[in-house]
Amino acid sequence: MENGEEHPDVARWNTRFAAREYAFGTAPNAFLAAQAQRLRPGMTALCVADGEGRNSVWLAQQGLAVTAFDFSPAGLAKARALAASAGVRVDYRQCEAARFAWSAAQYDAVVAIFVQFAPPALRATMFDGMMQALTPGGLLILEGYGLKQLEYRTGGPKDADHLYTPELLRESFAPLEIVHLVERDDMLDEGTAHRGMSALVDLVGRRPV
Ligand SMILES: C[S@@+](CC[C@H](N)C(=O)[O-])C[C@H]1O[C@@H](n2cnc3c(N)ncnc32)[C@H](O)[C@@H]1O
Repeated sequence: MENGEEHPDVARWNTRFAAREYAFGTAPNAFLAAQAQRLRPGMTALCVADGEGRNSVWLAQQGLAVTAFDFSPAGLAKARALAASAGVRVDYRQCEAARFAWSAAQYDAVVAIFVQFAPPALRATMFDGMMQALTPGGLLILEGYGLKQLEYRTGGPKDADHLYTPELLRESFAPLEIVHLVERDDMLDEGTAHRGMSALVDLVGRRPV
């Protein structure tokens, strides 16, 4: 890895991404796609733990200048192939979340879709980094599983510590203006990995100008 020793979970994600099929599909996450009216060509975006690239490629197709990172070389290879087949350019970086250099005020949008690999301490570091990386007026777009997902068991972590509640997100992102914060149940149809009735928590926050 470009940033030192390999994280112990990389092999598991590489194995998961070894199949020809895209585990989470090639269409963007539905909640992200529903935010299209908030995005403009020329905006800069950072996609956190972007996996096989479905969200970064969609953002680039909307005309955004997109940077994305993930720690899985197998995921990044599929992301690069997806970007090439879509004819868009994304700046992909192989990086472990705990070591990502969250530059200050660089991105007009930070997108974090199902980044719930992070236990509470890493999650707090990531959330702070994501807020710091936003330009004034920049948007944070985040979707994750809520606690009720432990009953649905249709994807995501099995550990309650990794799941979201609206209260947790409100507190974590207190410096942001909350534009949208909704807990809801919905059917997911994202590849083979996220399928069926799911407990979701959606957030759009804006960094004050
Ligand atoms: C559930 S997948 C979601 C991928 C993508 N955000 C999407 O919605 O399609 C979680 C992603 O996190 C990545 N990941 C897990 N632990 C990581 C870590 N510590 N640092 C960076 N990426 C990590 C995995 O490789 C995987 O691509």
